[in-house]
Amino acid sequence: MRTSLLMAMVHRSQILQEFLTTTQEANSARAGTNTSAAIAMERLSASMDISGSASDFIKPRTLPACSFLDPAIAGAKHGPMDIARVASAIKGLAPVLCWRLKASGDPVFANGHANADILGSVPEALEQRDDVRIGLSLMAPGITYPDHSHPPEEVYLALSRGFWRHEAGAWHEPGLGGIFYNPRGITHAMRSSCEPVWSKNWAGVRTCNWYDDFARSTKCLSWDNEVAKRVARAFLDLANAAAVSECGIEPWACDYAAS
Ligand SMILES: [Fe+2]
Repeated sequence: MRTSLLMAMVHRSQILQEFLTTTQEANSARAGTNTSAAIAMERLSASMDISGSASDFIKPRTLPACSFLDPAIAGAKHGPMDIARVASAIKGLAPVLCWRLKASGDPVFANGHANADILGSVPEALEQRDDVRIGLSLMAPGITYPDHSHPPEEVYLALSRGFWRHEAGAWHEPGLGGIFYNPRGITHAMRSSCEPVWSKNWAGVRTCNWYDDFARSTKCLSWDNEVAKRVARAFLDLANAAAVSECGIEPWACDYAAS
């Protein structure tokens, strides 16, 4: 199944290719040199030469928060020229997007956000593939996208003003056209203030299941004495080394076993 998804070559629509090209250029121009974001973008860009397959799930769908899309696009068009081109490409894609909600028990959050998948393995993604995920997040004013984490690293391109955070750190505002990099497994969140926030996120989906299970479980355990911490640390070092050599992935960002 995975192989067939990766090998399927389809002709991308012109507007989808325009979106991918403009966003790839905008991200790479801001990622710098030899930064984690730049290295992630190199990996992701290399994968983009091969198309996935077109989705069978092509029913467009909007959600309440989508009422903020047109104002958000208009705002981005006042930004740097390459960001304006990204906004125009998204405007072209908008009629076919199938927006969805992140699972949550919070009605305020549910009514105040919408996610769309452009590339990915969920049925709503326009192009089906399991090696790269590209999506859009849109939030109404005054909404916090709650703390979450996932194995793939992630590069956000901010298409409006808004705030991003790692763990319990301070909120950071990259500004319109800024980027924000999330290492694998790090807990992160974003929030809007008095204007809607929207962003485009790229995530590489190279994972290593046994390692991710291990990293998650060590995060959940409480180590109540120094000997237990040292043992856990030794196991984590071994797991990190194996993850790099066997799976070719970067270990998770945090020293969970020592917390
Ligand atoms: Fe994320």
